[in-house]
Amino acid sequence: MHHIRLDALDCTIILDCTQGAPPSLLYWGAAIGRDVDSAAVAKLAIRQGMHGVADVSLPLSLAMEPGLGHPMLQGFSAHREGRDWGSLFEVAKVEARENGVGIICRDERTKLGLEYAIDLDSATGVLRIASTLTNYGDAALDLNEMPTAFLPVSAHLTDIVGFTGRWTQEFGRERVKRGSGTYLRENRSGRTSHFSYPALLLAGTETNEASGEVYGLHLAWSGNHRLRVDTLTDGRVLAGMGALLFPGEIRLAPGESYASPEIVAAYAADGFSALSRKFHTHVREKLLRPAMRAKPRPVHYNTWEAVYFDHDTDKLKETATRAAALGVERFVLDDGWFGARRNDLAGLGDWYVSDAVYPQGLKPLVDHVTGLGMEFGIWFEPEMVNPDSDLYRAHPDWALEIEGVEQVPFRTQYVLDISRPDVAEYLFERIDATLRDHDISYIKWDMNRDLSHPGGPDGRVRAAAQVHALYALLDRIRAAHPQVEIESCSSGGARADMGVLAHSDRVWTSDSNDALDRQHIQRGASFFLPPEILGCHVGPAHCHVTGRRLSMAMRAATALTGHMGLELNLLTERQSDLDELAAAIQLHKAHRALLHDGDLYRLDTAPEHLAFGVVARGKGEALFSLAYMTGDAQVLPGRLRFAGIDPARHYRLRLVWPQHWSAVKAPSLIEQLDLGGKGAVFSGDALMKAGMQLPHAQPETCLLLHLAVV
Ligand code: GLA
Repeated sequence: MHHIRLDALDCTIILDCTQGAPPSLLYWGAAIGRDVDSAAVAKLAIRQGMHGVADVSLPLSLAMEPGLGHPMLQGFSAHREGRDWGSLFEVAKVEARENGVGIICRDERTKLGLEYAIDLDSATGVLRIASTLTNYGDAALDLNEMPTAFLPVSAHLTDIVGFTGRWTQEFGRERVKRGSGTYLRENRSGRTSHFSYPALLLAGTETNEASGEVYGLHLAWSGNHRLRVDTLTDGRVLAGMGALLFPGEIRLAPGESYASPEIVAAYAADGFSALSRKFHTHVREKLLRPAMRAKPRPVHYNTWEAVYFDHDTDKLKETATRAAALGVERFVLDDGWFGARRNDLAGLGDWYVSDAVYPQGLKPLVDHVTGLGMEFGIWFEPEMVNPDSDLYRAHPDWALEIEGVEQVPFRTQYVLDISRPDVAEYLFERIDATLRDHDISYIKWDMNRDLSHPGGPDGRVRAAAQVHALYALLDRIRAAHPQVEIESCSSGGARADMGVLAHSDRVWTSDSNDALDRQHIQRGASFFLPPEILGCHVGPAHCHVTGRRLSMAMRAATALTGHMGLELNLLTERQSDLDELAAAIQLHKAHRALLHDGDLYRLDTAPEHLAFGVVARGKGEALFSLAYMTGDAQVLPGRLRFAGIDPARHYRLRLVWPQHWSAVKAPSLIEQLDLGGKGAVFSGDALMKAGMQLPHAQPETCLLLHLAVV
């Protein structure tokens, strides 16, 4: 037996890497004493054969390949012209990595090599697994499926939390009981998708934000995927995920390799929030660029919901002037500046500044914006083309299609095959030239349709190739313009995974700027992504997507805890609202360093509230948000129990938002303790254990409470 043990502060994994046998994960969970021998853990796992199933307990493996002979589950699947389908991988070699291990496997029967790179971050316990398949045979290999890995999890975790949604309702959570057989989520949209976020959690019945065991797995990939949890008939439970491949999509010539996307996984013994903090640290330290981490995230103004396609340089200049006066630091010009793009029917692909709308070019607007001390950002949707465009008229063969099958209509646009070098070159040249010609420091990179017919000119599937080409194009632009930040947007939040975040700087969370929707959406996104990369904008009073009217106080409170921005018409909003907005921007800036670097604690509350806090790393201060989503069930709501602060220190508690608080029936605790003024001091222990009685407030109110160590 050859066991490899990796330890983090609160987590241990033990891999069985016995030579000549398939590699498997023997243990993944709470830290096991360093003096405990891995062989003892293996002994405790000895299983027997049973009547009605095999005479021996079948081994599990990381690949769950067919040669194992499992009756219910097959993961890895490949063949050569219908033969060589029965792979059984054997560990050939184990190599040490800096924080992990490389496992090199071979199957001499089918002439395949399979390598795993497994790393465990010793501080956070974040586990990363990637796998690479190599064809050592002398004929091509068709790969049907290669989940990155299967990870066994303890059967006492009875709940599965999946992440699902739709346009303007992203990051919804669905908690279901794990049954027998397979829990499956598949995505064939060619992008990360709204409906199947590439992640899942396995938790105990009692697990909540602050306690209970939970495992989280995320697939760092912006394309088709398959996520599964299998409860085998023999009682064992496995979670697996990987890219979903279409027929014939990956054909490896002799000597060629296929690399699976990485699984980023973590275990927490103390609830969902603790798990999220591990993922946040991973995103911050491993994915985001250090230079961008170091720079405060500028408050945005985005033109989309303000003007849509109605671009007018004078009005935009006036808007920019007003935005700067409110404290905005970056002005982003959204869709409509190029080609014949006066609506969403035409012009996509023609990345030349429109003479009709900008007769003097973009320079006067860019100069005006930068002259006001703001950065200038611009929208592109590089992967797409309108049939009514010069680009499509010149290159109809550049679009993905299935020959003889009509495209599904989707925002009147087709998808370009950006894995073609000529297409990628055209897009790079256009984006590069736009960035060179103007003082632009930000790109909103959009992607607004599914790849419903992802066929290339040779008739083969180009879906995975498209994702790799996207990452390559993003990297090429980054290399040429390292100071330019890139936002990943896809009809709102349909491309907000850890794969694209290795090549971009923030995500657009949702096209819904409705603050009530946003409280839920941002909470869902926060399971994996830290607040500073979530674009959170203050929309118009009359929400365009839901038709709801919400106060500025509510809208601003909801946007200011993420990467704050505005997306409303500053020429038509009420002055009193704009004054309040300026105050919210000031408040955001005052707490930006805390919000964008602190530890997130989502709180369990009554269903009519949503609450969370961000606590500074040294626990010297914290900002908590409590949203009254609907009316309270009783006359007065319950208490807010703070979390994550130091029980042994004292904090000054102050209500810092809304700017104009007035109790429905005064005096509430807020007035009696002067929380809106100089505040009151309490021990961290009392704030966390006894909690603070919440005042009665009308629905659609959001309180922001600040704690500072005294
Ligand atoms: C998508 C984005 C929006 C906006 C429009 C422009 O829907 O999510 O924010 O950029 O495209 O067409």
